[in-house]
Amino acid sequence: MTIISPSILSADFANLERDIKKVEPFVPWLHIDVMDGHFVPNISIGVPVVKSIRKITNLFLDTHLMIENPIKYIDAFADAGSDLITFHYEATLDKTIETIEKIKSRNLKVGLSIKPKTTVDEIKNYINLVDMILVMTVEPGFGGQKFMEESAKKIAEIKKINPDVLVQVDGGINDETAIICKDYGANSLVAGNYIYSAQNIEKAIEKIK
Ligand code: DX5
Ligand code: ZN
Repeated sequence: MTIISPSILSADFANLERDIKKVEPFVPWLHIDVMDGHFVPNISIGVPVVKSIRKITNLFLDTHLMIENPIKYIDAFADAGSDLITFHYEATLDKTIETIEKIKSRNLKVGLSIKPKTTVDEIKNYINLVDMILVMTVEPGFGGQKFMEESAKKIAEIKKINPDVLVQVDGGINDETAIICKDYGANSLVAGNYIYSAQNIEKAIEKIK
């Protein structure tokens, strides 16, 4: 079973509750993209929004931090109600272990993400220490970009090192690219534009499942 995690980056922020309720019956997870304007060129949403989302849904809150110095914000996102916190290896480097331990100390699931140019070799020492690896198949920062198949090959490399670690893919997922990811062994797919621009959201989710 593929875990589908709709990205609210493509939702209407003025109608966020309505748009979360549109996907809620069909998925177990909700993907929340946090951007700081430093690690990525865009600014999106932060802790207060996660706190408000926690009040209106029981979906598993899959929080993708695209921010510098993520360790500084773990307590705030944990208190706000995140269930899984994924941070970027490129944002922590020598502080990676410390950041993993900080998330674990809050009894949350831990995800480690890599941008398209980062190799599996660079993170090989951390794969057995986390619950999930998030493979970015676009440069992080914006929804609606084109899927980079070269990056998707990393799914199989990660699975070879640890078949039990969850591998999530984020960026450019649609009914065609979902198949490629599934073939490489992906466990979870994030989709923003594909789900939120669909005429029939239930059918769109069913297709990528
Ligand atoms: C990009 C974000 C993604 C984004 C995916 O930086 O991490 O989660 O919302 O959007 P789509 O599915 O539209 O590529
Ligand atoms: Zn994301």
